[in-house]
Amino acid sequence: MDILLLGSGGREHALARAMVEGTNVNLFVAPGNAGMKTLGERVDLNPNDPEAVSAWAKDRGVDMVVIGPEAPLVAGVADAVREAGIPVFGPDQNAAMLEGSKAFAKDVMEAAGVSTAAAYACTSVEEAREALARFEPPYVVKNDGLAAGKGVIVTSDLEAAIAHAESCVAAEGGAVLVEEYMGGPEVSLFCVTDGKSVVPLLPAQDFKRALDNDEGPNTGGMGAYCPLPWLPEGFVEEVVENVAQPVVDEMARRGTPFVGLLYCGLVVTTSGVRVIEFNARFGDPETQVVLPLLKTPLADLLYAAATGTLADFPQLEWSDSASVGVVVSSENYPATPVLGDLIEGVEEAEAGEQTRVYIAGAKDSEEGLVTSGGRVLLVNALGASLQEAQARAYEGVAKIRIRGSHFRTDIAARAVAGEL
Ligand code: AMP
Ligand code: GLY
Repeated sequence: MDILLLGSGGREHALARAMVEGTNVNLFVAPGNAGMKTLGERVDLNPNDPEAVSAWAKDRGVDMVVIGPEAPLVAGVADAVREAGIPVFGPDQNAAMLEGSKAFAKDVMEAAGVSTAAAYACTSVEEAREALARFEPPYVVKNDGLAAGKGVIVTSDLEAAIAHAESCVAAEGGAVLVEEYMGGPEVSLFCVTDGKSVVPLLPAQDFKRALDNDEGPNTGGMGAYCPLPWLPEGFVEEVVENVAQPVVDEMARRGTPFVGLLYCGLVVTTSGVRVIEFNARFGDPETQVVLPLLKTPLADLLYAAATGTLADFPQLEWSDSASVGVVVSSENYPATPVLGDLIEGVEEAEAGEQTRVYIAGAKDSEEGLVTSGGRVLLVNALGASLQEAQARAYEGVAKIRIRGSHFRTDIAARAVAGEL
């Protein structure tokens, strides 16, 4: 099977590896990164250009296009590829709004009867103030404008909440969502869907804050582990039944079927599972810890979703190992990362027992591999227990040498200690 994969992060490195190792796949990656050289051919193609991607895919006669990041989805790349008659794993522009617009996601959840935080959509500071007055601290304020980045703040400081709301509405087309706070451990559940059937992967937990003990600023994710031994029995079935399937059905009912990866960002509260957000793509870094446990060929699974045949797909097979991944990031990440530093020790790290390195923000240079992004790489290790996987992952991290780099030392620590 010839596959074009779009993206260049650690998530795509993991997707590439899982697709190539599982089955007879001939892979092209646009643009890919320095870690993927041995997995596929890197293609010089703008992944966010719908016409360029669909023309290339058609010309090359690939069997499927797999879209890693959000940007091509929002740009309508899936629509163009689908229109060209090529199976694509990734939702159309309209369906990707489940991630792109938080207000849209709330609307779909309401229609589908999915439990989420009460929220007020505001377009002025006055409205935001009134909305904040209806909630107790901590306050949750999310950017939801046309050009919104990911800006979410969770704070007990009312003035800080108002200031964030102000900065969100100040932009042209600016909008802000003021939300009820939901407390409890967070879980990421990836659901593969063809727009009708839903196939869940194993749940994982991400560590979003930059520093140990969940302190410091939010990041793209500093590490993850899988599976989650502390989840109640039947958790995944419950989420599929009460969250993923109703949302997939509601999207189909609206005439915008969601084909691809429905990432359910969940909180396990004392009153049950509730949704924080949806993403329309695989999560990073959860993908780098979940996929190494999947024994079923990933390319076959994604192809079944892309061609609407998921209902007939055999039950997924999983390794019964545990998986832990630790991100090593460059100096000063997430503020303004310092780039261009030499990366050493990748091969030494990978020599460790069941240990692999997923490259993200790194590129080749004359001196060798150098940093080119905030999250440089992730060291993943498997083990018979979470504790063993964690120990191996940190042994790998200890082999990596990058001037000024940092990593969290507590990935999976509370689960290993039985504190969750
Ligand atoms: P989001 O961009 O919606 O994923 O939010 C980023 C992070 O903010 C989440 O992973 C949570 O840790 C936190 N967060 C977002 N919404 C809420 C909420 N309603 N209650 C508590 N924490 C939240
Ligand atoms: N790990 C969080 C995300 O991919 O959005």
